[in-house]
Amino acid sequence: MDRIRIRGGTPLRGKITISGAKNAALPLMAASLLTVEKLVFQNLPQLADITTMAKLLGQHGTQVEMGKGAATLHTPSISNVTAPYDLVRKMRASILVLGPLVARCGKARVSLPGGCALGTRPVDLHIAGLQKMGARIDLEDGYIVAEVPRGLTGAEIVFPQVTVTGTENLMMAACLAKGETVLVGAAREPEVTDLAECLVKMGAKIEGIGSDTLHIQGVNALHGTTHSIVADRIVAGTYAMAAAMTGGELELVGARMEHLQAVIEFLDRVGISVTSTKDGFSVRRAANTIRSVDVNTAPYPGFPTDLQAQAMALMTLGNDGCTIHESIFENRFMHVPELCRMGANITVNGATAFVRGVPELHGAPVMATDLRASVCLVLAGLVAKGDTIVSRVYHLDRGYERVEEKLAACGAEIERLAA
Ligand code: UD1
Repeated sequence: MDRIRIRGGTPLRGKITISGAKNAALPLMAASLLTVEKLVFQNLPQLADITTMAKLLGQHGTQVEMGKGAATLHTPSISNVTAPYDLVRKMRASILVLGPLVARCGKARVSLPGGCALGTRPVDLHIAGLQKMGARIDLEDGYIVAEVPRGLTGAEIVFPQVTVTGTENLMMAACLAKGETVLVGAAREPEVTDLAECLVKMGAKIEGIGSDTLHIQGVNALHGTTHSIVADRIVAGTYAMAAAMTGGELELVGARMEHLQAVIEFLDRVGISVTSTKDGFSVRRAANTIRSVDVNTAPYPGFPTDLQAQAMALMTLGNDGCTIHESIFENRFMHVPELCRMGANITVNGATAFVRGVPELHGAPVMATDLRASVCLVLAGLVAKGDTIVSRVYHLDRGYERVEEKLAACGAEIERLAA
């Protein structure tokens, strides 16, 4: 298994181009199951999760062509409605094929994702929504078996809790259902909006895009289109924290400030200046001091849970103490013991971490446990005294494109050690 070695202490300076968002690309790729025509995606990131989704779709009958600037997905017919355990366990987002398969074929058999590093993460809301649309759902041998021989019908679905992939699954299913579906309490993440905008280009009738209530009028068929995937706000936010931590200045090309308002407000209070540029925005630490600022994760437009670990890495160097409250996922503090091994002073009580700033971190061998936890250890390594070796970097490769190359190009002393 590859590892990453970092020698901390160099302020990052330069430009980093922000790739398309993984969390937008995955549902968009799943949407290719909804039409017999071709979908062309520009700005598709090169990530392990994208390869996993391409494999999963391939075994459902999608022809996937990964070109240089664009990928073409074409599903003239569905050859198999089963999403097998082996692929689903690798990536929970595989659940995104459930809605499209049921909508197009009237049946699907998708492995239950099971537990993962972020707690239990159920999919009950995806299932309840499809049942409300008329699907009969059984759980058999670890598989969700859905059937609706005469097709889905529109329904009003009220989410008791915001779910991103739940909203995406049901929105895709509703596009081919009979009549109107109303999704109340829908997720408003920019990735949900990106999917909705692509579906509209494919002929879907969706109103309320960007709000928490979506009205979807079912149509008989969707058609092909070309879509450029929205820039990854989580990747941009991660590099913004890297610039802040190392005391350097980075321009994030292609990044969209409007998708990171809660993060930019946090950075502003920390003492980090964020300014808009012609092609994106630039991040610079204006003062020597990193001010300690509390963080509370929340659904969009709140502070993203996917940037909680990175914000914690920054706060380890704060001038005082602060609390970081994780309100979306249980068990999302797996990075805490690793940061502590690098000299951080953090205690956890339930869903709240208390971070007392320390003057410096020191390098150590550390282990990545999930995607965002692993990048937070890379951030810590960039400022730590001495060498940090991050193992299990396959987590990192799921969501960050060539991270060590991008950081090295901005001055970081970082290299990948092949297994
Ligand atoms: C998506 C993102 C992930 C991000 C998360 C929250 C993708 C591929 N992944 O994950 O990076 O961290 O949103 O922004 O887009 N829940 C239920 N029942 C359900 C569904 C969810 O109880 O049926 C709960 C979850 O356990 C969690 C909360 O709802 O506590 C939010 O989860 P959800 O938004 O569904 O996360 P994902 O869509 O899996």
